[in-house]
Amino acid sequence: MSKVVVVTGGASGIGEATAQRFAAGGFVVEIADRDEARGARIAGEIGATYRGLDVADEAAIAAYAADVLARRVAVDAVVNSAGVLQNAIRVTDMDIAEYDRIHAINVRGTLLVNQVFGRAMTTRGRGAIVNMGSLTTYRPSGQPAYAMGKASIKMMTEILAAEFGPHGVRVNAVAPGYVLTPAMQARIDSGQRDPKLIIEKAALRRFVQPADVGEAIWFLCSDAASAITGVTLPIDAGWLATSAYTAYAAVP
Ligand SMILES: NC(=O)c1ccc[n+]([C@@H]2O[C@H](COP(=O)([O-])OP(=O)(O)OC[C@H]3O[C@@H](n4cnc5c(N)ncnc54)[C@H](O)[C@@H]3O)[C@@H](O)[C@H]2O)c1
Repeated sequence: MSKVVVVTGGASGIGEATAQRFAAGGFVVEIADRDEARGARIAGEIGATYRGLDVADEAAIAAYAADVLARRVAVDAVVNSAGVLQNAIRVTDMDIAEYDRIHAINVRGTLLVNQVFGRAMTTRGRGAIVNMGSLTTYRPSGQPAYAMGKASIKMMTEILAAEFGPHGVRVNAVAPGYVLTPAMQARIDSGQRDPKLIIEKAALRRFVQPADVGEAIWFLCSDAASAITGVTLPIDAGWLATSAYTAYAAVP
């Protein structure tokens, strides 16, 4: 029987590329996303099932998990790619409602999805979950609500890995660098991100593509990664290494 993956945020960007990778790998793919038009279209293109879901809505997540588990019996992998970016802002200028909105999706939403599917997976005794970190998991940036949330994702992933591991369930995260997704392209177009600076700071002198992240998530969910849990894996074209290296006064 085919394995089943749930991809939140699967209608766009990293989630879309991940859904494509799992579909190509023979998984039954369940896309959960609040963008109904795009979600239905992508699902149609790759033979996935789409359901509308807002991960900020606790009751909706419970109902969604019940629906998937009723139709598929078991879920083998969950990828939490639903998330929103933030424009640069000083903490002193940030409306706390903006913080709450971003936290409700990126952090609380990820936690709720881990809870409902984690219960089912630990009861069954197997499964793999991948959460979505960022460069801001490891380095500060001028997107305070976003960055604080992405640091939380690392801790959440480690706590869940420790809790679920004895029950056969692995929990990891990826920390993508600058990925050319619709969300990132929109920020470049509006002047919020500078593509030249991004490429200069990447050791490989390039953007990360959504498929690069999808491939890493595929690996982390596969049996090839059966001894890996609790890690937050950078997929950043060498941005973390280069940004520190070039910050020193003497660079050869
Ligand atoms: N693009 C990057 O450079 C980058 C880098 C590091 C991390 N990330 C993270 O990757 C994840 C995906 O980002 P992306 O760049 O692919 O963005 P994207 O906008 O292309 O895709 C995000 C998807 O999540 C969905 N979504 C947003 N809020 C939702 C909600 N409340 N409920 C359900 N679905 C919701 C959107 O509809 C969209 O389809 C995010 O967590 C983001 O923080 C992105």
